[in-house]
Amino acid sequence: MQRNQWKTASAQLLKHWHRSGISQVPVVSLQSLADATAWLEENSSTLFDEYEPQTLISASSVNESGQVQPAISGPDQQSVEEKRIDQRTRNQPESTSKSLGKWNSPSLVIIDRQGVLDSLNERVMACRKCEEIVCRRQRTVFGVGAVDARVVMFGEAPGADEDRVGEPFVGAAGQLLDKILIASGLNRDEVYIVNALKCRPPNNRTPTDAEIENCRPFFENQLETIQPEYIVCWGSVAVRAVLGSQDSVGRLRGKFHSYRGAKVLVTYHPAYLLRNPDAKRLAWEDMKMLMKDMGIAIPTKG
Ligand code: URA
Repeated sequence: MQRNQWKTASAQLLKHWHRSGISQVPVVSLQSLADATAWLEENSSTLFDEYEPQTLISASSVNESGQVQPAISGPDQQSVEEKRIDQRTRNQPESTSKSLGKWNSPSLVIIDRQGVLDSLNERVMACRKCEEIVCRRQRTVFGVGAVDARVVMFGEAPGADEDRVGEPFVGAAGQLLDKILIASGLNRDEVYIVNALKCRPPNNRTPTDAEIENCRPFFENQLETIQPEYIVCWGSVAVRAVLGSQDSVGRLRGKFHSYRGAKVLVTYHPAYLLRNPDAKRLAWEDMKMLMKDMGIAIPTKG
């Protein structure tokens, strides 16, 4: 089998699993790839007979401005995508976001989402737009988690720990976030965690609007690539970045907003909760609302 045929076959296989409701696929080792190749070569003549040619999107399909583009478009992908959007728009809240409308691009298969994010991360590492920040940063902090996550946790900016490690939410606020996730029945590795800013502002100061705009192509592309069903905005900087709103968390929490096809929940930043423990009760109410809407049962204690 040629390399590009391989890619087609793998993408079709992933899509087939996806349609069958299988969203998690095992990590493929070289040995299992070799075994799968042998098996596919034996069976390839009839394997995908039932399918029409489909849209394939490759990691190279990110254009100059960072937009994800389909490499080939096909009728079948269109209908799959429409179905996905239909599902998402059922019970959609009124949009308060300035970014109205649905996701721009068709959804990507999981292997390609990773490829798109990897190439985006390279651009983040090379970015030098924010002069005041770039000369002080130790690491860029791209984002971490499942590329097919149903929910994206959207924070503000890296702090000192994140700047050292290169991963979002690993310091004190991150530990509280982890506890909130576990209490809600979510694992850190089944969500995707991202910040508005990819670099640490000096002395952890609040990111400026200009810095958020500099990072916008990066986080918007991350969201576009993952196309989550839900986005949780942790704190007012996340709200500014995702919803474009200057309203306070207190005013925006307690209901769903909308960003493209995703439902957006606003709640207090974990760092704020560490300083104001009384607000934890409200954040917990927000998480319960999220979990109910996602159809995930909150684990019972003990
Ligand atoms: N606060 C954030 O908003 N993001 C991090 O990654 C860490 C702390």
